[in-house]
Amino acid sequence: MKRKQKHVPVVKGETYQIEITDLTHDGEGIGRVDDFAVFVPEALPGDVVLGKVISTKKTYARALIEKTFKNSDQRIAPVCPKAESCGGCQLAYMGYEHQLAWKQRKVQDVLKRIGKLDAEVLPIIGMERPEGYRNKSQFPVGLVDNRLVIGFYQKRSHNIVDTDYCRLQHPLINKAARVVKQALIDLKIEPYNEKDHLGVVRHAVIRTSFSRHTLMLIFVTRTKELPHRDKLIEVLTAELPELTSIYQNINSQVTNVIFGTESRLLWGEPYLFDQIGDLEFAISPRSFFQVNPIQTKVLYDLAKEAAGLTGRETVWDLYCGIGTIGLYLASDAAKVIGVETVPEAVEDARYNAVLNGIDNAEFYTGKAEELAPKLLDKGLKPDVVVVDPPRRGCDPGLLETIQSVQVPKVVYVSCNPSTLARDLGMLKEAGYRVESVQPVDMFPDTRHVECGTLMSRV
Ligand SMILES: C[S@@+](CC[C@H](N)C(=O)[O-])C[C@H]1O[C@@H](n2cnc3c(N)ncnc32)[C@H](O)[C@@H]1O
Repeated sequence: MKRKQKHVPVVKGETYQIEITDLTHDGEGIGRVDDFAVFVPEALPGDVVLGKVISTKKTYARALIEKTFKNSDQRIAPVCPKAESCGGCQLAYMGYEHQLAWKQRKVQDVLKRIGKLDAEVLPIIGMERPEGYRNKSQFPVGLVDNRLVIGFYQKRSHNIVDTDYCRLQHPLINKAARVVKQALIDLKIEPYNEKDHLGVVRHAVIRTSFSRHTLMLIFVTRTKELPHRDKLIEVLTAELPELTSIYQNINSQVTNVIFGTESRLLWGEPYLFDQIGDLEFAISPRSFFQVNPIQTKVLYDLAKEAAGLTGRETVWDLYCGIGTIGLYLASDAAKVIGVETVPEAVEDARYNAVLNGIDNAEFYTGKAEELAPKLLDKGLKPDVVVVDPPRRGCDPGLLETIQSVQVPKVVYVSCNPSTLARDLGMLKEAGYRVESVQPVDMFPDTRHVECGTLMSRV
């Protein structure tokens, strides 16, 4: 039988008056035209706008604001002068207290809708000063109107918005971005041309240590050669006394992935060092380290409390990066075992254990879902499992392993509430109960939210 086609009451290119009533999980405004959902980026609940439809699908359309008839009372004037064009901050227009309330609702909503969970979500922990919190920025470098630009991608495109200042970045990163841009211009080092896959410098990745006020700089280049390399190092080290490492990473592929596999230390120390709580961490250029160190301490303290360790437990730290969470818990555990796919991160984790005088932690390279059964075969059954997966969440095979050995406690740290809800739903089916879900705002002005969750076996 032929399905009745749903009537689409809006036409691409036409404008409509739309009252915004909510936000999607991606932070776009939602309004209705003849009961048909229209998503409007940058619109907030309470806005009444004239929206021009740019695309239509069977069940929804997307429109851009042409004119605003009435402003939402959640709306603020963005502090950043590039907010209109830059695609980095989806919520730059929303008052911070409203951002927090929305993130809280978003977590509650997905837990119910996707995970079928009625768990209590604790009040989100926001930042006292929600700016200057990022310790890492990946600036694309390119040519616009024959001028070298460094900045962020424009909304919905790969055009670079020339902006060497971002209020979310630590001030040292902004300072370094300005110096890097000027040095590349002065030395006439060619930026990458994405269209023709020509040119040299694709990205300038800048990392900073909040505790030491130092900088690591990584030039991602298409070519093995970095022209005027020595002069570049001379200029940068003279202008940026905070620099402790300069790397070149070679990425000759036609790809959106930033890093290639080969990194060369051009100058300085191999690691950037930063601190969380009392622990010191060595970070190599491609290793994951949480971008907001202030809220990371909050998150790790929650994980520690949730784990409720007595000193007798074996803890698995899966998706461990450079071993941060496992090492943070190690003094309260009998043994910590970390698993991570990126070999450099595992090397960092082992070094970090030594750096902090921790001798009860071991780290393994591999996929958590593949190594977990092997750890069991070795007799290393966990009492507590901590998982902190990427946005796609945990592999179902890993959740099956956790269920099969009836691990008493699972601490789930998540940067994506939807996959968190899916995975918690699976664990609930297998006999776990959600004890607490604690959202933490690691990424003010953006649509992202982090959560720490404790599940116990019933
Ligand atoms: C969100 S980060 C968490 C890192 C660390 N727990 C922290 O707090 O800094 C996720 C980590 O999982 C790693 N990863 C991705 N897929 C994995 C897999 N299948 N098994 C193990 N680790 C994986 C990534 O390389 C990344 O370092």
